[in-house]
Amino acid sequence: MAKLRIYNILKETDTIGIGNQVKIQGWVRTRRGNNAVAFIALNDGSCIHNLQVVADLNHFDEAILKKVTTGACIEVNGKLVESMGKGQTVEIQAEQIKLLGEADPEKYPLQKKGHSMEFLREIPHLRPRTNYFGCVLRLRHAMAMAIHTYFNEKRFVYIHTPVITGADCEGAGEMFQVTTLDMHNPPRTPEGCVDYHRDFFGKFTSLTVSGQLNGEMCAMALGNIYTFGPTFRAENSNTPRHLAEFWMIEPEMAFYDINDNMDLAEDLIKYLIRYALDHNSDDLQFLNDMFDKELLQRLKSVLSDAFVRLSYTEAIEILMQSKQKFEFPVSWGVDLQSEHERYLVEKHFLKPVILTDYPKTIKAFYMKQNDDGKTVRAMDILFPKIGEIIGGSERESDLKKLEAFIEERQMDKEVLHYYIDTRRFGTAPHSGFGLGFERLMLFITGMANVRDVIPFPRTPQNAEC
Ligand code: 4AD
Ligand code: MG
Repeated sequence: MAKLRIYNILKETDTIGIGNQVKIQGWVRTRRGNNAVAFIALNDGSCIHNLQVVADLNHFDEAILKKVTTGACIEVNGKLVESMGKGQTVEIQAEQIKLLGEADPEKYPLQKKGHSMEFLREIPHLRPRTNYFGCVLRLRHAMAMAIHTYFNEKRFVYIHTPVITGADCEGAGEMFQVTTLDMHNPPRTPEGCVDYHRDFFGKFTSLTVSGQLNGEMCAMALGNIYTFGPTFRAENSNTPRHLAEFWMIEPEMAFYDINDNMDLAEDLIKYLIRYALDHNSDDLQFLNDMFDKELLQRLKSVLSDAFVRLSYTEAIEILMQSKQKFEFPVSWGVDLQSEHERYLVEKHFLKPVILTDYPKTIKAFYMKQNDDGKTVRAMDILFPKIGEIIGGSERESDLKKLEAFIEERQMDKEVLHYYIDTRRFGTAPHSGFGLGFERLMLFITGMANVRDVIPFPRTPQNAEC
């Protein structure tokens, strides 16, 4: 008997054939009925839709049917028939029901519909069973596939950059240390410091905050590359937009200037949104209907217009003239807060914005310095409801300027010497950016909190499941 998934049954009904025998397996969403018949809504995760299983009570052992409750896992053999009921075109007339795993109705926490996101965060092991989380995880998968497809079609090479590193790419000191030293009794140098020479790697190491530096090294040989991997930041930011472990897509391109960089970033985001609309319309429709009535319209609106491009300096002028009361006051040189970014995107321009040429004091050491001596060729892409979704720049390709910048920041030149070498041997103008995968997922799904777009979130004080 054909073992089928619900997605295929609904999509390929004609090929499978009404009246034919099928076998399905899945989890019971709801069960209702009367003395004569039970209607079981079964979901197997292959799509948002449930398949209705109709069981004539006279044909089944009552003891088994009693255990077919919300959350239980069952296997059904039966006949595929047209459905008389509302809400579905086909259903299964059950001939055999095998109970694979029961779920005690007194204890299974997902009994009713409409649990809050906060409640679902407390049951990370079971929330994938909800409609909402099924949509998010299928969309997350679709976006990952789309990212690889996009770059593959453009002949970018996917580079696996290391997770463990000695370099702090962003220079913000937000690294999770990696060590096998005995924390209670570490070896010490004669000066009394921890002796990292005796650590596993013979030096101080941490989890990477970004694959960019290694990415640049490969771009200086392969031209166009990208990374897509987990990154880690020990920043104690308890916000709806920050995770301690998040995924980042980082393309790096030789011979791209800042304008080429912006073009690629805008094209990538639009491609991903279009891909979601084309491939996951059922999931998006569900999220639109149940969670965010403006989701589809917001996704489509981003496709229709070019992103606004302006300099940081111009943005500061707009903010200062806005008469808006900001919690963090605005002046040239300050780092933009989420409230400022959202004002520009949601109140002033009403579309995504790319800001360029930030003050060098608030940006990382690797950014190309402008001739004004004050700004660097940075670009941040700001999105409605999210704020910064992409951070990137043209890179400093001049050896002397890069070295001077590193010294000015009192960074460890020794740790960066491989990176610096790329400017010594065949340096080339190049650019790149980092797209935060969970920030992208916030936009695609309409969710409000990054904890709800990653299967098992890692945030301060939480690495539970
Ligand atoms: O702006 P960021 O720090 O830039 C970099 O890491 C560069 N090395 C990227 C590059 O040029 N290759 O981070 C890039 C993006 C942000 O715009 C944001 O979308 C996301 O990564 N991001 C976070 N997402 C979730 N939680 C956090 N704590 C994040 N920090 C940054
Ligand atoms: Mg940034």
